[in-house]
Amino acid sequence: MRNGNPRHFLDISTVARGELRAIVDDAASRKTLGRNASRPLEGKTLAMIFDKPSTRTRVSFDVAMRQLGGETLILSGAEMQLGREETIADTAKVLSRYVDAIMIRTTAHDRLTELAENATVPVINGLTDDTHPCQIMADLLTFEEKRGPVRGKIFAWSGDGNNVLASLVEAAARFEFTLRIATPPGSEPDMRYVENARGEGATVLLTNDPVEAVTGADCVVTDTWVSMGREDKARGHNVFMPYQVNERLMAHANPEALFMHCLPAHRGEEVTDAVMDGPQSVVFDEAENRLHAQKSILAWCFGEVAPAAGAAHG
Ligand code: CP
Ligand code: NVA
Repeated sequence: MRNGNPRHFLDISTVARGELRAIVDDAASRKTLGRNASRPLEGKTLAMIFDKPSTRTRVSFDVAMRQLGGETLILSGAEMQLGREETIADTAKVLSRYVDAIMIRTTAHDRLTELAENATVPVINGLTDDTHPCQIMADLLTFEEKRGPVRGKIFAWSGDGNNVLASLVEAAARFEFTLRIATPPGSEPDMRYVENARGEGATVLLTNDPVEAVTGADCVVTDTWVSMGREDKARGHNVFMPYQVNERLMAHANPEALFMHCLPAHRGEEVTDAVMDGPQSVVFDEAENRLHAQKSILAWCFGEVAPAAGAAHG
């Protein structure tokens, strides 16, 4: 048995404000230092389990770990005994004897929490059906490097109320920005996240009107209309088309507004080419910042990132 109390990165809401701030600030600093930054994870191994496809998460975690001095193992859930019904709990106990941290991209969120409850090494959420916190950490880094502190700013979401949005909702509470969400009726976000964020004092507005959400916003965000594993719940594109982020919708935002998308994008569906490739789009900066943000998340899991003295917790 190793560390009996590992530091997991499961969700934005499971990490204290001061720690989240320290991670974003550390990421900005590591990005500036580039490969001259420290290599605190020399000799450590990260196992990554993928129950769903990935380009960015897979490559950015792999490169992040190498740049921190560590090594990685990339595992497909389907090719592990997990795919033949070995339990998540037993898998957690076994992997904890071999590796120093585990990242998992999976389906049901309770697979992640069960892994974390049974692992004796840090566990990181690389996306579940419910949330995608690493994406939002990269997005906050991206916003702040372009526009300064996110606190008090207005973010607008137009599209499906999915896992990426749930983590953005959690971030609105932790980082104190306003979030306006426009979805078609029936595609609203999971209200547990919205109620929790409101309970922490966040301003989260729900509407079916994308113009209401986007008007005056500092950042406009969208994502696919059909998330991985949700194909059976797919709804007609005509339902989502009014929520497409196009130049007409962007014109309602603050003229300085950024456009964000976690990628992969479905051009011509949730976003047009003109917006994706236009001057307000920072989608490839977001993709790059997955690397920098995750270096700091990994370092934080190993106690290498700490809030500044006197920073707010909670
Ligand atoms: N944004 C994101 O998580 O991309 P991948 O699915 O390619 O990892
Ligand atoms: N909402 C998308 C995000 C992909 C990175 C999905 O879950 O498929």
